[in-house]
Amino acid sequence: MFLRFFEQHGHKIVHSSSLVPQNDPTLLFTNAGMNQFKDVFLGLEKRDYSRATSSQKCVRAGGKHNDLENVGFTNRHHTFFEMLGNFSFGDYFKKDAIAFAWELVTSPEWFGIPKDKLFATIFKGENGIARDDEAYEHWIATGVAPERIYELGMKDNFWMMGDTGPCGPCSEIHYDMGPAASDAGHTDCQFGCECGRYVEIWNLVFMQFDKQPDGKMNPLPKPSIDTGAGLERVTAVMQGVISNYDTDLFVPLIKRAAELTGAPLETELKKEDEEERHHQAASLRVIADHARASTFLISDGVVPSNEGRGYVLRKIIRRAIRHGRLLGQDKPFLFEMVFAVRDLMKDAYPELIETANRVSETIKGEETRFARVLTFGLRELDSALGIGLSNAPAGPHYQQDKTPHFTGQEAFHLYETFGLPLDFMIEAARDAGIPFDMA
Ligand code: GLY
Repeated sequence: MFLRFFEQHGHKIVHSSSLVPQNDPTLLFTNAGMNQFKDVFLGLEKRDYSRATSSQKCVRAGGKHNDLENVGFTNRHHTFFEMLGNFSFGDYFKKDAIAFAWELVTSPEWFGIPKDKLFATIFKGENGIARDDEAYEHWIATGVAPERIYELGMKDNFWMMGDTGPCGPCSEIHYDMGPAASDAGHTDCQFGCECGRYVEIWNLVFMQFDKQPDGKMNPLPKPSIDTGAGLERVTAVMQGVISNYDTDLFVPLIKRAAELTGAPLETELKKEDEEERHHQAASLRVIADHARASTFLISDGVVPSNEGRGYVLRKIIRRAIRHGRLLGQDKPFLFEMVFAVRDLMKDAYPELIETANRVSETIKGEETRFARVLTFGLRELDSALGIGLSNAPAGPHYQQDKTPHFTGQEAFHLYETFGLPLDFMIEAARDAGIPFDMA
């Protein structure tokens, strides 16, 4: 519907670019819809259209925008997601961008989201860059009530692709999910509260500058528009659910992850096992998310390795495997998730039909390799923690006050010799009731 709306307004639908950015050493992975148009914004490249729209594959793990550690424990973080966007290359600017967005979001012919659930934000002015008076006036002219427009600073209302490159002040549209979405149980908090109730659904960036390595903001050749709306979040709003993971973009993947790991679905667990439910649901979310990320990354040519993009991919795969183990699955399973991702997403990304077998083989190889690491590494770890094996040597060391202790030397030895990841050690130590001294 998003793409169709903008096509009707003279935008060319452009297919998502690869997750591996072409000729852009400033970027680890494609992290926004505008990446493939960066040179067009900078005036270095010309296209035969001045308006475009896309649904872009994005990965936010490892780079400037990094959500890896949050995934699983929140309703809305992903390593892989799809960003809907409309772009103007020196064509329309703030007035039309705001009018288009408001029409698409609120018109009953389109998304039909009630206006009294929405808020808009503008850049309040900071760091020598002026308040965005123009955006404010356009929101008012579009019919947004002044008390629903909030003014925020650089952190929220100034968007940069990376440390350098095209950037500018932005306006966001936020949706009020209602008190049930508050992670803190708030019943009457106001907009701006970060408890999970108020969700950004669309960011309209008014591209005006090209940030230089020395921090200087050079003006772009022509003011332009770059917007980003997370498909997963918009879907949650449209389907009336609080969590992105409860939308039809994720439910089939979570079900498949439960089948493959033997874990019960959240709804199948008894109410009394609240904590257990919580952990298992988080693990299933991690697996669903990471299966999407690793499928698309490998499909786009990334291979697991010990550096750069391949290392981030390896971390994503290993984190999924770890959560499979937490659910009791010690055997390779993630490679099977690839086919669930393909079946769910092949209409939008037909390339998955071609690549799924290769992707699955790559993941299986990584799972097998990692299982070996874990077999040896975890045995050593158990012995260092004094648990598990009967032939464990000395067991844990004890400090003078008799509290058990896992030394930095041991942790380093297990990492260096067996490749055992730090987070496995931290978790195992915690499970054994031994404090892990990160310093
Ligand atoms: N490029 C706009 C965004 O990522 O929010």
